[in-house]
Amino acid sequence: MKPDGVERGLIGEIVGRLEAKQLGVVAAELRTLDHITAERHYAEHAGKPYFADLIAFITRGPVLVLVVEGPRDTWQVVRTMIGATNPTQAAPGTIRGDLAIEMAENLIHGSDSAESAQREIEIFFPHLA
Ligand code: TYD
Ligand code: MG
Repeated sequence: MKPDGVERGLIGEIVGRLEAKQLGVVAAELRTLDHITAERHYAEHAGKPYFADLIAFITRGPVLVLVVEGPRDTWQVVRTMIGATNPTQAAPGTIRGDLAIEMAENLIHGSDSAESAQREIEIFFPHLA
């Protein structure tokens, strides 16, 4: 969960949705990311016009770093629950569709493949990887 979600007091709402879906919380920590970790996490976006703002945003306060597990395709289940990157296009019923408006403040990140999930778990919880 990104800093906007923590600032808005949406930890319970968003983690509650994941738990209600029957995903299990494997690891969770409230943590303020340093720039090196944030840039490593978002490395695929380096050089994009929004990159500097993205790094400033994601490091501006604590994020809730979460690993959840489910029976299958968990990254896909979570991405479906999160909704489209731009909240103005995210479907009602999704986290972004219900709770966000701005692209730059879209509440939550989700790994976009099993490989990304593995890579990101290694960044944030190396002892789990
Ligand atoms: P991306 O990986 O494309 O989206 P998602 O979070 O759905 O996987 O982009 C990462 C984040 O970068 C996105 O959540 C918000 C920010 N972003 C912008 O601010 N502007 C943009 O044009 C894009 C593509 C992303
Ligand atoms: Mg992404």
